[in-house]
Amino acid sequence: MQGQSKEAVESFRLAASLKPALVEAHANLRAAYNDMIPAWHFAMMNDKPRNGAYEAALLRAAPGHRVLDIGTGTGLLAMIAARAGAESVVTCESVALIAERARETIALNGLSNRVRVIGQHSTELAVGHELSERAHVLVTETFSSDLLSEGVLSVVEHAHRELLTADAIVIPRAAAARAYLIGGAEIEAMLFAGVSNGFDLSPFNAFAPPILAASLNNVAHDVLSDDFDLFCFDLTSKRFAVESRILDLSVTKDGVAAGLVQWIRLDLDGVGTYENHPSLGPRGESHWTQILRRFSRPVRVATGDVLRLSLRHDRRQMWVDLVE
Ligand SMILES: C[S@@+](CC[C@H](N)C(=O)[O-])C[C@H]1O[C@@H](n2cnc3c(N)ncnc32)[C@H](O)[C@@H]1O
Repeated sequence: MQGQSKEAVESFRLAASLKPALVEAHANLRAAYNDMIPAWHFAMMNDKPRNGAYEAALLRAAPGHRVLDIGTGTGLLAMIAARAGAESVVTCESVALIAERARETIALNGLSNRVRVIGQHSTELAVGHELSERAHVLVTETFSSDLLSEGVLSVVEHAHRELLTADAIVIPRAAAARAYLIGGAEIEAMLFAGVSNGFDLSPFNAFAPPILAASLNNVAHDVLSDDFDLFCFDLTSKRFAVESRILDLSVTKDGVAAGLVQWIRLDLDGVGTYENHPSLGPRGESHWTQILRRFSRPVRVATGDVLRLSLRHDRRQMWVDLVE
C-alpha cells in the first residue's frame, strides 16, 4: 500500500514539475500526501506541553550519550537531543517520504552532521549495519491516544534486545493508560442509542463501537470514581506479557456510568511527567484525544458501590468489560 502511494506521489511530483501551471497535478500530489501522512502530525509537533516534557528529559539524559530516536516525524526530538549535547543521534522513520522530509528539515536547522536519519522501521535496524554501536539512550514518541496501538511495546522490546546497551535510559521510562468511571447525559448521548423524538432507537446499539476517541476537556461529564491505572508499562523492561485482571472499582459519586474515560500518562524520567487528563479544562488541551471505553449498557451507580471490571490487553489493544 505504501509502495503504491509512493509511486502515485512520484508520478504526481513529476507531473507537477513538468507542468507547474497544472492545478490538477498539485491537487493530486496533495491528496496522495494526505493518504500517506496523517494530519495529526501538525497538532502533535505544535503540542507545547508534550514537546516541553520531552525536551526537559532529553536535556537531563542526552549530553555525551549515543541517542536512538524511534519515529522521526519532523525530526524534532532528534534535533532536541543533538542540541542537548548528545554524542550522536540516529533516528529512524518507517515512512520513506517523512524520512526524506526530515533530512531536509534537519539540514535546514544546521544539524545534518549530528543527526542521521534512517528511512526504515526500527525493527529492521541492526548494530553493525544501520547503527555502529548500541545506543545509551532511547527516546520514542510512538504512543497512540489508546497508548498501545502504534505497537510501542514490541518496538521497545526489540530495541532492548538488538539496539540498546543493557542499562540504557528509556524516555519515557514508563507509560500508563489511566482512567476514571464516567457518566452524564452528554457522554451517554455519544455512546448509546436511546429514545429520540419519542422513538425508541435502541436496536442501533448493536453497531456501537466499544471505544470512541473524543476530546473531553470541554465536555460536561460526571466523574464517578477516582483516577486509576488501567495498565502501566515499565519501558525499561525487556519483555512485555499479555495481561488480564479483575478490578473492583469504588464509586465515589451517584450517577449513571456510561463507561470509562481513558487517557495517557508518560513518566519521562522520574522527574518530568506528561498527562492528557480529561478534567483539566482548556489548559489540558492535547493533540492526543481521550478514549471512551463504553460499557455494554449504562449502569446506575451510587457512592460506595463497587463495580467489578475485567481488564485485559494483548500488547496492542486493551479491553474493558463489566463483570455482571
Ligand atoms: C507520533 S510521531 C512522533 C514524531 C516525532 N518523534 C515527534 O515526537 O515529534 C511517530 C512517527 O514515528 C513513525 N514510526 C512509528 N513507529 C515507528 C517505528 N517502530 N520505526 C520507525 N518509525 C516509526 C511514524 O511514521 C511517525 O512518523
